[in-house]
Amino acid sequence: MRQMYLVALLLAATHATADESAIKLKEAPGADAVRANCAACHSLDYPIANSGFLDAKGWDGVVTKMVKTFGAPIDAADARTIVDYLSKNYGR
Ligand code: HEC
Repeated sequence: MRQMYLVALLLAATHATADESAIKLKEAPGADAVRANCAACHSLDYPIANSGFLDAKGWDGVVTKMVKTFGAPIDAADARTIVDYLSKNYGR
């Protein structure tokens, strides 16, 4: 019984560290553009959760979808910087 209580406590502690403020992008050229453009509608864990699944083409598709489908106000130059950053740092 006592052990189960400990497990529950551990799970709670792990969960607490996974909040928004804990999300850190890899520092590289373009990280600022992602922070500035990609956190308005959802948290940055959306792109990070897709890390490793998408290649450059895939990331381009995601950013295009954010702009075209969801209306993200991101200009073409920023979009290119972001796709570049995401495919280099979170690409497949
Ligand atoms: C205008 C609002 C908005 C902005 C700005 C925005 N997104 Fe999204 N994003 C959404 C919505 C809406 C969804 C779908 C939400 C859901 O399914 O809960 C989404 C979902 C996602 C997903 C999940 C996979 C998918 O294709 O649905 C990823 C990855 C993602 N966004 C990345 C980004 C990146 C990278 C940026 C910056 C270039 C960005 N978003 C900026 C609205 C936005």
